[in-house]
Amino acid sequence: MLELNSVHKSFQSGMGNGRLALDNVSLSLQPEDFVTVIGSNGAGKSTLLNVIAGVFPVDSGQVIIDGQDVTGWPEHRRASVIGRVFQDPMQGTAGSMTIEENMAMALKRGERRGLSRGVLAKDRDYFRQNLSSLGLGLEDRLLEPVKLLSGGQRQALALLMATLSKPKLLLLDEHTAALDPRTAREIQELTNDVVKRGNLSVLMVTHNLRLALAVGTRTIMMHEGEIVLDVSDPERCEMTVSDLLERFHDARGERLSDDRILLEA
Ligand SMILES: Nc1ncnc2c1ncn2[C@@H]1O[C@H](COP(=O)(O)OP(=O)(O)OP(=O)(O)O)[C@@H](O)[C@H]1O
Ligand SMILES: [Mg+2]
Repeated sequence: MLELNSVHKSFQSGMGNGRLALDNVSLSLQPEDFVTVIGSNGAGKSTLLNVIAGVFPVDSGQVIIDGQDVTGWPEHRRASVIGRVFQDPMQGTAGSMTIEENMAMALKRGERRGLSRGVLAKDRDYFRQNLSSLGLGLEDRLLEPVKLLSGGQRQALALLMATLSKPKLLLLDEHTAALDPRTAREIQELTNDVVKRGNLSVLMVTHNLRLALAVGTRTIMMHEGEIVLDVSDPERCEMTVSDLLERFHDARGERLSDDRILLEA
């Protein structure tokens, strides 16, 4: 359902040569693939998601979603098929707007008509229904501004909003990293439920190797702009974090050296 063909993406770094953030990346996702994406700082994980979402154009290569070449499509045009949740709960929701206004905006995402603030009565029932599935009592707080919610509640709402207009693909960029461990676990469980219910394909970036192996159906590791490992179940089910690090060593001839990753391993 998602196809990347030989994608290159570089950024200009002050003077002279550009920095290659994605170096000839090819990737093919089947419907309902749930891929966890790992790799050290600067490996190109966020750039991969941004290129898929159309945040920046590629230098060369193709992005194909559901058989359609979207390489030239701007971000807003891809938004009807792609949902996103970021690390910062503030980024996915508008604090000064109410819960229902945020959800109305999410429902209209990807439509070409303007984003009015109006909320229709029929949509309100749909919002309530969806919110109650979170089990956080937010269905009774539709008219409260989102800035009153906790970080975890806000991230749960962001997740719901990302999937409200039934996208085909969900992109999660370290979406639990800013939360305390217990809330992070809850949001991860919620993510697993939402993905299952929506039959979504997922790319989920995490720096937690154990989590990367524990959730989803497939794990890719990026390094210096390349995909250096790609393992799927059932092989992946048997793997431990040390197997993963060993496989990286075999593939690259060097040890992974990233404190943030290894501290959590
Ligand atoms: N908007 C940008 N402008 C310039 N350079 C960028 C931009 N976005 C990313 N880069 C560069 O591209 C490379 C890959 O960055 P990217 O953000 O994709 O890494 P990452 O794997 O997500 O890392 P992290 O784990 O730190 O989030 C880095 O060298 C980064 O400095
Ligand atoms: Mg990143």
